[in-house]
Amino acid sequence: MTDDRAAMQWGGRFAAPPDPELIAFGSSLEDDLVLAPFDVAGSRAHVASLRSGGIVDEATARAIDVALADVAAEITAGAFATWARGGAYEDVHGAIDARVRELAPDHGARLHAGRSRNDQVATALALYAADRARRGRERSLSIARLAIAQARAALARGDVLAATTHWQPAQPIALGFWLGAVAENFARAAHRFDRVVRDAMRFSPLGSGACSGSTMPLDRALSAAQLGFGAPSRNALDAIGDRDVALDLLHAVARALVAASRVSEELVLWCTPAFGYARLDDAASTGSSLMPQKRNPDPFELVRASAARVTGALSGAMGSATGIALSYHRDLQETKSLVLRGTERGLAALDAFARAFSGVTYNGARMRALAGDGFTVATDLADAAILAGASARDAHAAVGAAVACADAEGRELDPRDVAAIARELGLTALDAPLDPDASIAAKRTSGSTNPSEVALALDDLERELDVLGYEAHA
Ligand code: ARG
Repeated sequence: MTDDRAAMQWGGRFAAPPDPELIAFGSSLEDDLVLAPFDVAGSRAHVASLRSGGIVDEATARAIDVALADVAAEITAGAFATWARGGAYEDVHGAIDARVRELAPDHGARLHAGRSRNDQVATALALYAADRARRGRERSLSIARLAIAQARAALARGDVLAATTHWQPAQPIALGFWLGAVAENFARAAHRFDRVVRDAMRFSPLGSGACSGSTMPLDRALSAAQLGFGAPSRNALDAIGDRDVALDLLHAVARALVAASRVSEELVLWCTPAFGYARLDDAASTGSSLMPQKRNPDPFELVRASAARVTGALSGAMGSATGIALSYHRDLQETKSLVLRGTERGLAALDAFARAFSGVTYNGARMRALAGDGFTVATDLADAAILAGASARDAHAAVGAAVACADAEGRELDPRDVAAIARELGLTALDAPLDPDASIAAKRTSGSTNPSEVALALDDLERELDVLGYEAHA
Protein backbone atom coordinates (compact mmCIF):
# COMPACT_ATOMS: atom_id res chain seq x y z
CA MET A 1 0.00 0.00 0.00
CA THR A 2 1.57 3.26 -1.00
CA ASP A 3 -1.26 5.63 -0.13
CA ASP A 4 -1.62 5.49 3.65
CA ARG A 5 -4.69 7.69 3.60
CA ALA A 6 -6.52 5.02 1.60
CA ALA A 7 -5.55 2.41 4.19
CA MET A 8 -6.70 4.58 7.09
CA GLN A 9 -10.35 4.84 7.99
CA TRP A 10 -9.81 8.10 9.89
CA GLY A 11 -7.40 11.02 9.88
CA GLY A 12 -9.37 14.16 9.15
CA ARG A 13 -8.86 15.66 12.59
CA PHE A 14 -5.08 15.17 12.64
CA ALA A 15 -2.53 17.59 11.22
CA ALA A 16 0.35 15.10 11.24
CA PRO A 17 0.31 11.62 9.71
CA PRO A 18 0.43 8.64 12.06
CA ASP A 19 3.71 7.04 13.08
CA PRO A 20 4.15 4.04 10.75
CA GLU A 21 5.80 2.00 13.50
CA LEU A 22 2.82 2.45 15.76
CA ILE A 23 0.44 1.68 12.91
CA ALA A 24 2.39 -1.53 12.26
CA PHE A 25 2.35 -2.38 15.96
CA GLY A 26 -1.39 -1.81 16.02
CA SER A 27 -2.20 -4.09 13.11
CA SER A 28 -4.00 -7.37 13.71
CA LEU A 29 -4.26 -8.18 10.00
CA GLU A 30 -2.16 -11.36 10.15
CA ASP A 31 -4.39 -12.73 12.88
CA ASP A 32 -7.79 -11.57 11.67
CA LEU A 33 -7.57 -12.42 7.97
CA VAL A 34 -9.54 -15.56 8.92
CA LEU A 35 -12.47 -13.25 9.68
CA ALA A 36 -12.58 -12.02 6.07
CA PRO A 37 -15.51 -14.17 4.84
CA PHE A 38 -17.53 -13.27 7.93
CA ASP A 39 -16.81 -9.56 7.56
CA VAL A 40 -17.99 -9.77 3.95
CA ALA A 41 -21.20 -11.51 5.02
CA GLY A 42 -21.74 -8.82 7.69
CA SER A 43 -20.99 -6.06 5.19
CA ARG A 44 -23.48 -7.45 2.69
CA ALA A 45 -26.14 -7.60 5.39
CA HIS A 46 -25.28 -4.01 6.30
CA VAL A 47 -25.79 -2.97 2.68
CA ALA A 48 -29.23 -4.59 2.77
CA SER A 49 -29.97 -2.72 5.98
CA LEU A 50 -28.83 0.60 4.47
CA ARG A 51 -30.93 0.01 1.40
CA SER A 52 -34.03 -1.00 3.34
CA GLY A 53 -33.71 2.14 5.44
CA GLY A 54 -33.42 4.28 2.30
CA ILE A 55 -29.93 5.42 3.36
CA VAL A 56 -28.43 4.37 0.02
CA ASP A 57 -30.19 4.09 -3.32
CA GLU A 58 -30.66 0.90 -5.28
CA ALA A 59 -27.75 1.52 -7.68
CA THR A 60 -25.35 2.18 -4.81
CA ALA A 61 -26.49 -0.88 -2.87
CA ARG A 62 -26.11 -3.03 -5.94
CA ALA A 63 -22.64 -1.70 -6.82
CA ILE A 64 -21.36 -2.25 -3.28
CA ASP A 65 -22.88 -5.69 -3.10
CA VAL A 66 -21.26 -6.70 -6.38
CA ALA A 67 -17.91 -5.44 -5.09
CA LEU A 68 -18.38 -7.43 -1.88
CA ALA A 69 -19.21 -10.55 -3.89
CA ASP A 70 -15.99 -9.98 -5.82
CA VAL A 71 -14.06 -9.64 -2.57
CA ALA A 72 -15.64 -12.92 -1.40
CA ALA A 73 -14.37 -14.61 -4.55
CA GLU A 74 -10.91 -13.11 -4.00
CA ILE A 75 -10.93 -14.43 -0.44
CA THR A 76 -11.78 -17.93 -1.63
CA ALA A 77 -9.05 -17.78 -4.26
CA GLY A 78 -6.48 -16.52 -1.74
CA ALA A 79 -5.89 -13.35 -3.73
CA PHE A 80 -7.43 -11.06 -1.14
CA ALA A 81 -4.90 -11.96 1.58
CA THR A 82 -2.03 -11.15 -0.78
CA TRP A 83 -3.66 -7.85 -1.70
CA ALA A 84 -4.34 -6.93 1.95
CA ARG A 85 -0.76 -7.71 3.03
CA GLY A 86 0.40 -5.09 0.58
CA GLY A 87 -1.23 -2.31 2.61
CA ALA A 88 -0.84 -0.79 6.06
CA TYR A 89 -4.22 -1.95 7.31
CA GLU A 90 -5.11 -1.94 10.96
CA ASP A 91 -7.27 -5.00 10.52
CA VAL A 92 -9.12 -7.13 7.97
CA HIS A 93 -12.21 -4.96 8.36
CA GLY A 94 -10.40 -1.84 7.15
CA ALA A 95 -8.77 -3.81 4.34
CA ILE A 96 -12.12 -5.05 3.03
CA ASP A 97 -13.58 -1.56 3.21
CA ALA A 98 -10.59 -0.28 1.20
CA ARG A 99 -10.90 -3.05 -1.37
CA VAL A 100 -14.59 -2.27 -1.85
CA ARG A 101 -13.75 1.39 -2.41
CA GLU A 102 -11.17 0.31 -4.97
CA LEU A 103 -13.55 -2.07 -6.78
CA ALA A 104 -16.51 0.32 -6.67
CA PRO A 105 -14.89 3.78 -6.76
CA ASP A 106 -18.16 5.65 -7.26
CA HIS A 107 -20.14 3.95 -4.50
CA GLY A 108 -17.83 2.09 -2.10
CA ALA A 109 -17.34 5.03 0.25
CA ARG A 110 -21.01 4.75 1.25
CA LEU A 111 -20.60 1.28 2.75
CA HIS A 112 -19.42 2.50 6.14
CA ALA A 113 -22.51 4.69 6.71
CA GLY A 114 -24.11 4.00 10.06
CA ARG A 115 -21.61 1.42 11.17
CA SER A 116 -18.49 1.34 13.27
CA ARG A 117 -15.70 -1.17 13.22
CA ASN A 118 -16.95 -1.95 16.69
CA ASP A 119 -20.26 -3.49 15.63
CA GLN A 120 -18.49 -4.84 12.53
CA VAL A 121 -15.89 -6.71 14.61
CA ALA A 122 -18.48 -8.03 17.04
CA THR A 123 -20.65 -9.29 14.18
CA ALA A 124 -17.79 -10.97 12.33
CA LEU A 125 -16.58 -12.57 15.55
CA ALA A 126 -20.03 -13.99 16.33
CA LEU A 127 -20.36 -15.47 12.84
CA TYR A 128 -16.83 -16.87 13.06
CA ALA A 129 -17.56 -18.37 16.48
CA ALA A 130 -20.67 -20.12 15.15
CA ASP A 131 -18.81 -21.43 12.10
CA ARG A 132 -15.80 -22.75 14.00
CA ALA A 133 -17.98 -24.17 16.76
CA ARG A 134 -19.93 -26.08 14.11
CA ARG A 135 -16.62 -27.47 12.87
CA GLY A 136 -15.59 -28.41 16.38
CA ARG A 137 -18.98 -30.04 16.96
CA GLU A 138 -18.70 -32.11 13.77
CA ARG A 139 -15.15 -33.17 14.56
CA SER A 140 -15.98 -34.07 18.15
CA LEU A 141 -19.01 -36.04 16.98
CA SER A 142 -16.94 -37.97 14.46
CA ILE A 143 -14.29 -38.81 17.08
CA ALA A 144 -17.00 -39.96 19.50
CA ARG A 145 -18.65 -42.08 16.81
CA LEU A 146 -15.34 -43.64 15.82
CA ALA A 147 -14.62 -44.46 19.46
CA ILE A 148 -18.06 -46.10 19.76
CA ALA A 149 -17.45 -48.21 16.64
CA GLN A 150 -14.06 -49.26 17.94
CA ALA A 151 -15.58 -50.00 21.34
CA ARG A 152 -18.15 -52.32 19.80
CA ALA A 153 -15.43 -54.14 17.86
CA ALA A 154 -13.33 -54.47 21.02
CA LEU A 155 -16.32 -55.88 22.93
CA ALA A 156 -16.88 -58.40 20.16
CA ARG A 157 -13.24 -59.49 20.39
CA GLY A 158 -13.50 -59.64 24.19
CA ASP A 159 -10.38 -57.51 24.72
CA VAL A 160 -9.58 -56.94 28.38
CA LEU A 161 -6.79 -54.93 30.01
CA ALA A 162 -5.70 -53.60 33.37
CA ALA A 163 -7.07 -50.15 34.09
CA THR A 164 -4.59 -48.05 36.01
CA THR A 165 -4.92 -45.29 38.53
CA HIS A 166 -1.71 -43.33 39.24
CA TRP A 167 -0.40 -45.47 36.32
CA GLN A 168 -0.40 -48.42 38.75
CA PRO A 169 -2.41 -51.55 37.93
CA ALA A 170 -5.91 -51.08 39.34
CA GLN A 171 -8.68 -53.36 38.05
CA PRO A 172 -9.45 -55.30 34.88
CA ILE A 173 -11.62 -53.50 32.34
CA ALA A 174 -12.91 -54.21 28.85
CA LEU A 175 -11.11 -52.29 26.10
CA GLY A 176 -14.59 -51.33 24.88
CA PHE A 177 -15.11 -49.64 28.24
CA TRP A 178 -11.95 -47.54 27.81
CA LEU A 179 -13.02 -46.61 24.29
CA GLY A 180 -16.47 -45.78 25.66
CA ALA A 181 -14.78 -43.32 28.05
CA VAL A 182 -13.06 -41.72 25.05
CA ALA A 183 -16.46 -41.42 23.35
CA GLU A 184 -18.03 -39.80 26.46
CA ASN A 185 -15.28 -37.17 26.50
CA PHE A 186 -15.89 -36.17 22.90
CA ALA A 187 -19.67 -36.30 23.27
CA ARG A 188 -19.32 -33.67 25.99
CA ALA A 189 -17.02 -31.69 23.72
CA ALA A 190 -19.65 -31.82 20.96
CA HIS A 191 -22.33 -30.56 23.37
CA ARG A 192 -20.05 -27.74 24.45
CA PHE A 193 -19.47 -26.65 20.85
CA ASP A 194 -23.20 -26.94 20.20
CA ARG A 195 -23.96 -24.50 23.01
CA VAL A 196 -21.45 -22.06 21.51
CA VAL A 197 -23.22 -22.26 18.13
CA ARG A 198 -26.55 -21.50 19.74
CA ASP A 199 -25.26 -18.63 21.85
CA ALA A 200 -23.32 -17.10 18.96
CA MET A 201 -26.39 -16.99 16.73
CA ARG A 202 -28.83 -15.47 19.24
CA PHE A 203 -28.22 -11.74 18.78
CA SER A 204 -26.82 -9.68 15.92
CA PRO A 205 -24.60 -6.79 17.04
CA LEU A 206 -24.88 -5.19 13.58
CA GLY A 207 -26.42 -1.72 13.68
CA SER A 208 -25.14 -0.99 17.18
CA GLY A 209 -22.74 1.63 15.81
CA ALA A 210 -19.75 2.63 17.93
CA CYS A 211 -21.49 2.19 21.29
CA SER A 212 -24.92 3.81 21.42
CA GLY A 213 -26.90 2.84 18.32
CA SER A 214 -27.52 4.96 15.26
CA THR A 215 -29.52 7.97 14.17
CA MET A 216 -30.01 6.25 10.82
CA PRO A 217 -33.08 4.15 10.06
CA LEU A 218 -31.05 0.94 9.77
CA ASP A 219 -33.09 -2.22 9.26
CA ARG A 220 -31.50 -4.26 12.03
CA ALA A 221 -34.14 -6.98 11.87
CA LEU A 222 -33.36 -7.50 8.19
CA SER A 223 -29.58 -7.67 8.60
CA ALA A 224 -29.93 -9.97 11.61
CA ALA A 225 -32.22 -12.31 9.66
CA GLN A 226 -29.99 -12.25 6.58
CA LEU A 227 -27.06 -13.40 8.72
CA GLY A 228 -29.10 -16.09 10.46
CA PHE A 229 -29.18 -14.47 13.90
CA GLY A 230 -32.25 -14.92 16.09
CA ALA A 231 -32.75 -11.18 16.64
CA PRO A 232 -30.93 -7.84 16.80
CA SER A 233 -29.02 -7.34 20.05
CA ARG A 234 -30.81 -5.51 22.85
CA ASN A 235 -28.11 -3.15 24.09
CA ALA A 236 -25.60 -1.48 21.78
CA LEU A 237 -23.09 -0.71 24.52
CA ASP A 238 -23.02 -4.36 25.54
CA ALA A 239 -23.13 -5.74 22.01
CA ILE A 240 -19.98 -4.01 20.75
CA GLY A 241 -17.86 -4.82 23.80
CA ASP A 242 -19.12 -8.32 24.51
CA ARG A 243 -16.54 -11.05 23.89
CA ASP A 244 -18.36 -13.83 25.75
CA VAL A 245 -19.07 -16.01 22.75
CA ALA A 246 -15.52 -15.60 21.41
CA LEU A 247 -14.16 -16.68 24.77
CA ASP A 248 -16.69 -19.53 24.99
CA LEU A 249 -15.53 -20.73 21.59
CA LEU A 250 -11.89 -20.76 22.61
CA HIS A 251 -12.87 -22.43 25.87
CA ALA A 252 -14.72 -25.17 24.00
CA VAL A 253 -11.69 -25.67 21.74
CA ALA A 254 -9.33 -25.78 24.70
CA ARG A 255 -11.56 -28.24 26.56
CA ALA A 256 -11.77 -30.57 23.55
CA LEU A 257 -7.99 -30.49 23.34
CA VAL A 258 -7.57 -31.17 27.04
CA ALA A 259 -9.64 -34.31 26.45
CA ALA A 260 -7.59 -35.17 23.36
CA SER A 261 -4.37 -34.59 25.29
CA ARG A 262 -5.35 -37.11 27.94
CA VAL A 263 -6.20 -39.80 25.40
CA SER A 264 -2.98 -38.91 23.57
CA GLU A 265 -0.90 -39.34 26.71
CA GLU A 266 -2.32 -42.81 27.24
CA LEU A 267 -1.84 -43.83 23.61
CA VAL A 268 1.75 -42.56 23.57
CA LEU A 269 2.48 -45.00 26.39
CA TRP A 270 0.40 -47.79 24.89
CA CYS A 271 2.47 -47.52 21.70
CA THR A 272 5.74 -48.17 23.56
CA PRO A 273 7.15 -51.71 23.38
CA ALA A 274 6.96 -51.85 27.19
CA PHE A 275 3.18 -51.63 26.96
CA GLY A 276 2.67 -52.92 23.46
CA TYR A 277 -1.10 -52.38 23.71
CA ALA A 278 -1.43 -50.27 20.58
CA ARG A 279 0.18 -49.44 17.29
CA LEU A 280 -0.11 -46.24 15.30
CA ASP A 281 -0.28 -46.72 11.56
CA ASP A 282 2.74 -45.89 9.42
CA ALA A 283 1.19 -42.82 7.86
CA ALA A 284 0.73 -41.14 11.24
CA SER A 285 4.07 -42.21 12.71
CA THR A 286 7.43 -40.52 12.33
CA GLY A 287 11.00 -41.80 12.29
CA SER A 288 14.32 -40.61 13.63
CA SER A 289 17.06 -39.03 11.54
CA LEU A 290 19.62 -41.06 13.48
CA MET A 291 18.00 -44.16 14.99
CA PRO A 292 16.77 -46.33 12.13
CA GLN A 293 14.42 -48.42 14.26
CA LYS A 294 12.34 -45.55 15.61
CA ARG A 295 8.60 -45.35 15.29
CA ASN A 296 7.33 -42.27 17.06
CA PRO A 297 3.72 -41.23 17.75
CA ASP A 298 4.43 -37.52 17.12
CA PRO A 299 0.86 -36.41 16.35
CA PHE A 300 -0.27 -37.42 19.83
CA GLU A 301 2.63 -35.54 21.38
CA LEU A 302 1.89 -32.43 19.34
CA VAL A 303 -1.79 -32.64 20.28
CA ARG A 304 -0.78 -32.87 23.94
CA ALA A 305 1.35 -29.74 23.61
CA SER A 306 -1.24 -27.94 21.47
CA ALA A 307 -3.65 -28.28 24.36
CA ALA A 308 -1.18 -26.25 26.43
CA ARG A 309 -0.79 -23.67 23.68
CA VAL A 310 -4.53 -23.20 23.30
CA THR A 311 -5.09 -23.14 27.04
CA GLY A 312 -2.45 -20.39 27.14
CA ALA A 313 -4.32 -18.47 24.44
CA LEU A 314 -7.52 -18.83 26.46
CA SER A 315 -5.78 -17.49 29.54
CA GLY A 316 -4.36 -14.59 27.51
CA ALA A 317 -7.72 -13.84 25.93
CA MET A 318 -9.49 -13.86 29.29
CA GLY A 319 -6.76 -11.66 30.73
CA SER A 320 -6.91 -9.12 27.92
CA ALA A 321 -10.67 -8.81 28.39
CA THR A 322 -10.42 -8.50 32.16
CA GLY A 323 -10.91 -5.09 33.72
CA ILE A 324 -11.94 -3.60 30.38
CA ALA A 325 -14.74 -1.11 31.05
CA LEU A 326 -17.99 -1.83 29.24
CA SER A 327 -17.97 -0.91 25.52
CA TYR A 328 -14.98 -1.11 23.15
CA HIS A 329 -11.37 -0.58 24.17
CA ARG A 330 -8.45 -1.39 21.95
CA ASP A 331 -7.32 -4.17 24.28
CA LEU A 332 -10.15 -6.20 22.77
CA GLN A 333 -8.20 -6.36 19.51
CA GLU A 334 -5.67 -8.51 21.38
CA THR A 335 -8.51 -10.63 22.74
CA LYS A 336 -9.66 -11.14 19.16
CA SER A 337 -6.18 -12.12 17.95
CA LEU A 338 -5.74 -14.64 20.76
CA VAL A 339 -9.15 -16.16 20.12
CA LEU A 340 -8.52 -16.49 16.38
CA ARG A 341 -4.99 -17.86 16.67
CA GLY A 342 -5.90 -20.26 19.44
CA THR A 343 -9.02 -21.49 17.67
CA GLU A 344 -7.28 -22.08 14.33
CA ARG A 345 -4.43 -23.98 15.93
CA GLY A 346 -6.76 -25.83 18.26
CA LEU A 347 -9.12 -27.02 15.54
CA ALA A 348 -6.14 -28.12 13.44
CA ALA A 349 -4.92 -30.12 16.44
CA LEU A 350 -8.36 -31.66 16.87
CA ASP A 351 -8.31 -32.69 13.20
CA ALA A 352 -4.84 -34.20 13.66
CA PHE A 353 -6.02 -36.06 16.74
CA ALA A 354 -8.99 -37.50 14.84
CA ARG A 355 -6.67 -38.64 12.08
CA ALA A 356 -4.12 -40.25 14.40
CA PHE A 357 -6.79 -41.83 16.61
CA SER A 358 -8.37 -43.47 13.57
CA GLY A 359 -4.97 -45.01 12.78
CA VAL A 360 -4.60 -46.86 16.08
CA THR A 361 -4.94 -50.63 16.25
CA TYR A 362 -5.12 -52.50 19.52
CA ASN A 363 -3.22 -55.63 20.56
CA GLY A 364 -5.77 -57.61 22.55
CA ALA A 365 -3.40 -60.53 23.21
CA ARG A 366 -0.84 -58.24 24.80
CA MET A 367 -3.47 -56.48 26.91
CA ARG A 368 -4.89 -59.79 28.09
CA ALA A 369 -1.42 -61.11 28.95
CA LEU A 370 -0.86 -58.19 31.33
CA ALA A 371 -4.44 -57.72 32.54
CA GLY A 372 -3.94 -59.65 35.78
CA ASP A 373 -0.46 -58.32 36.57
CA GLY A 374 -0.23 -56.26 39.72
CA PHE A 375 -2.98 -58.26 41.46
CA THR A 376 -5.77 -56.46 39.61
CA VAL A 377 -8.40 -58.92 40.91
CA ALA A 378 -7.60 -58.15 44.57
CA THR A 379 -10.62 -55.85 44.88
CA ASP A 380 -12.89 -58.62 43.57
CA LEU A 381 -11.62 -60.93 46.32
CA ALA A 382 -12.31 -58.30 48.96
CA ASP A 383 -15.78 -57.63 47.47
CA ALA A 384 -16.59 -61.35 47.54
CA ALA A 385 -15.50 -61.59 51.18
CA ILE A 386 -17.68 -58.61 52.10
CA LEU A 387 -20.68 -60.11 50.31
CA ALA A 388 -20.04 -63.32 52.24
CA GLY A 389 -20.32 -61.41 55.51
CA ALA A 390 -16.93 -59.91 56.34
CA SER A 391 -16.58 -56.22 57.15
CA ALA A 392 -14.96 -54.00 54.52
CA ARG A 393 -12.04 -53.29 56.84
CA ASP A 394 -11.36 -56.96 57.70
CA ALA A 395 -11.70 -58.01 54.04
CA HIS A 396 -9.29 -55.29 52.92
CA ALA A 397 -6.73 -56.37 55.51
CA ALA A 398 -7.03 -60.09 54.73
CA VAL A 399 -6.70 -59.64 50.98
CA GLY A 400 -3.85 -57.16 51.48
CA ALA A 401 -1.99 -59.77 53.52
CA ALA A 402 -2.57 -62.39 50.81
CA VAL A 403 -1.24 -59.96 48.15
CA ALA A 404 1.87 -59.27 50.26
CA CYS A 405 2.47 -63.01 50.57
CA ALA A 406 2.05 -63.72 46.83
CA ASP A 407 4.18 -60.68 45.99
CA ALA A 408 6.98 -61.90 48.28
CA GLU A 409 6.83 -65.29 46.62
CA GLY A 410 6.83 -63.69 43.17
CA ARG A 411 3.57 -65.25 42.02
CA GLU A 412 -0.05 -64.39 41.18
CA LEU A 413 -2.98 -64.78 43.54
CA ASP A 414 -4.29 -68.37 43.31
CA PRO A 415 -6.93 -70.61 44.93
CA ARG A 416 -4.68 -71.16 47.97
CA ASP A 417 -4.89 -67.47 48.71
CA VAL A 418 -8.65 -67.53 48.38
CA ALA A 419 -8.83 -70.38 50.89
CA ALA A 420 -6.46 -68.56 53.26
CA ILE A 421 -8.54 -65.38 53.08
CA ALA A 422 -11.73 -67.33 53.80
CA ARG A 423 -10.08 -69.01 56.82
CA GLU A 424 -8.74 -65.72 58.13
CA LEU A 425 -12.19 -64.16 57.92
CA GLY A 426 -14.03 -67.19 59.31
CA LEU A 427 -16.01 -67.72 56.11
CA THR A 428 -17.13 -71.17 55.07
CA ALA A 429 -16.81 -70.50 51.36
CA LEU A 430 -15.45 -67.73 49.15
CA ASP A 431 -16.38 -67.66 45.49
CA ALA A 432 -14.23 -65.02 43.86
CA PRO A 433 -13.04 -64.38 40.32
CA LEU A 434 -9.32 -64.87 39.87
CA ASP A 435 -9.00 -63.96 36.25
CA PRO A 436 -9.67 -60.66 34.48
CA ASP A 437 -12.54 -61.96 32.33
CA ALA A 438 -14.39 -63.32 35.36
CA SER A 439 -13.70 -60.03 37.12
CA ILE A 440 -15.36 -57.84 34.50
CA ALA A 441 -18.24 -60.31 34.09
CA ALA A 442 -18.88 -60.11 37.84
CA LYS A 443 -19.44 -56.34 37.78
CA ARG A 444 -23.11 -55.55 38.46
CA THR A 445 -23.56 -51.80 38.51
CA SER A 446 -24.85 -49.71 35.64
CA GLY A 447 -22.02 -47.80 34.05
CA SER A 448 -19.58 -50.54 35.02
CA THR A 449 -17.11 -52.38 32.81
CA ASN A 450 -19.34 -55.48 32.61
CA PRO A 451 -19.49 -55.94 28.82
CA SER A 452 -23.29 -56.02 28.76
CA GLU A 453 -23.38 -52.73 30.71
CA VAL A 454 -20.81 -51.26 28.33
CA ALA A 455 -22.99 -52.24 25.36
CA LEU A 456 -26.03 -50.57 26.97
CA ALA A 457 -24.03 -47.43 27.65
CA LEU A 458 -22.77 -47.31 24.07
CA ASP A 459 -26.34 -47.66 22.78
CA ASP A 460 -27.50 -44.83 25.00
CA LEU A 461 -24.62 -42.56 24.01
CA GLU A 462 -25.14 -43.31 20.34
CA ARG A 463 -28.79 -42.30 20.60
CA GLU A 464 -27.75 -39.08 22.30
CA LEU A 465 -25.25 -38.32 19.53
CA ASP A 466 -27.87 -39.04 16.87
CA VAL A 467 -30.17 -36.47 18.45
CA LEU A 468 -27.37 -33.91 18.68
CA GLY A 469 -26.30 -34.58 15.09
CA TYR A 470 -29.88 -34.42 13.85
CA GLU A 471 -30.64 -31.14 15.65
CA ALA A 472 -27.37 -29.68 14.43
CA HIS A 473 -28.49 -30.13 10.85
CA ALA A 474 -32.18 -29.38 11.35
N1 ARG B 1 -8.77 -2.86 14.95
C1 ARG B 1 -9.85 -2.90 15.88
C2 ARG B 1 -10.11 -4.36 16.26
O1 ARG B 1 -9.81 -5.20 15.48
C3 ARG B 1 -11.09 -2.37 15.26
C4 ARG B 1 -11.96 -1.58 16.18
C5 ARG B 1 -11.38 -0.27 16.35
N2 ARG B 1 -12.30 0.57 17.00
C6 ARG B 1 -11.86 1.67 17.49
N3 ARG B 1 -12.73 2.40 18.08
N4 ARG B 1 -10.59 2.01 17.44
O2 ARG B 1 -10.60 -4.62 17.31
